[in-house]
Amino acid sequence: MRDPLPSASTLNDLLPEAQRHGYAVPAFSARYLACVRPLVEAALERRAPFILEISQRELGWFDLTPEAFRDEVGRVVSDLEVDLPFALHLDHTFAEPLVVEAMDAGFTSVMIDASAEPFDVNVARTRALVEEAHGRGVSVEAELGRLTTTDRMEAEGGAAAYTDPEEARQFVDGSGCDALAVSVGTAHGVYPPAGPTIDFARLTAIRRAVGSTPIVLHGGSGLPADLVARAVRLPGGGISKMNIATDFEQALLGAMDHGERMTSAALDAVDPDVRARGLAAVRTVAVNKIELLLAAGRA
Ligand code: G3H
Ligand code: ZN
Repeated sequence: MRDPLPSASTLNDLLPEAQRHGYAVPAFSARYLACVRPLVEAALERRAPFILEISQRELGWFDLTPEAFRDEVGRVVSDLEVDLPFALHLDHTFAEPLVVEAMDAGFTSVMIDASAEPFDVNVARTRALVEEAHGRGVSVEAELGRLTTTDRMEAEGGAAAYTDPEEARQFVDGSGCDALAVSVGTAHGVYPPAGPTIDFARLTAIRRAVGSTPIVLHGGSGLPADLVARAVRLPGGGISKMNIATDFEQALLGAMDHGERMTSAALDAVDPDVRARGLAAVRTVAVNKIELLLAAGRA
């Protein structure tokens, strides 16, 4: 078991502060190891707290392990002498053994995504993981309601998938999770031309129902600035963490004129000048997200 990354924080160090002061912490899904550095550079440039994350599916797509991701984050944070609050977070993970592997690797925060399970099973699995994680000083994000992908919104999205506020209250009380990912209209991936909608009445009701438990908005890529601003500034406290993945990968591949996703190692083998163009584009998008979430200057 590795020690948690020195100087890394948990969601409990980052999100309540964000909620109190009316901003949201950008959660950067780096996907490629080479993207870690420009994301951290963006946070340093804008003096913002941040979260670096990777999910179970992304570990597979990009042929990475939690240890490899943790080691790259450790290298970059040390190299850039990062003096900002940040967390190393395992995103959407469906199997407890991988969550434990990430905690063993030194992740300071994890997500157990049991949202496909019946309510009681989701509560029980989350509660069990919360006990294990809290014993290690690691924070836990959970999900209630279904977050689908933008290409399946028609079939799987809609109000039936959304988070029920009363269930959310029971869920946070029963599971003890440190942050709750909610389904209120956003989805993972590139939104259709009609764009996303956010059920703000529902988000407000969830905020009231879950008290001080920070709320996480997933599917941050492609969200119009006015929707993000409204979600951050919700009366009574808005979202405290927003996850972004697709916008970074699209910026990277677009700037390199490279159409296809590749493994992290394959990106490391791309011509350095071409890769540098892609990484510069990632940094620009990250600065924009930091500004959008009102996180600039908070650290
Ligand atoms: O968990 C990761 C995020 O929800 C990614 O969503 O790719 O639409 O930004 P996105
Ligand atoms: Zn997500």
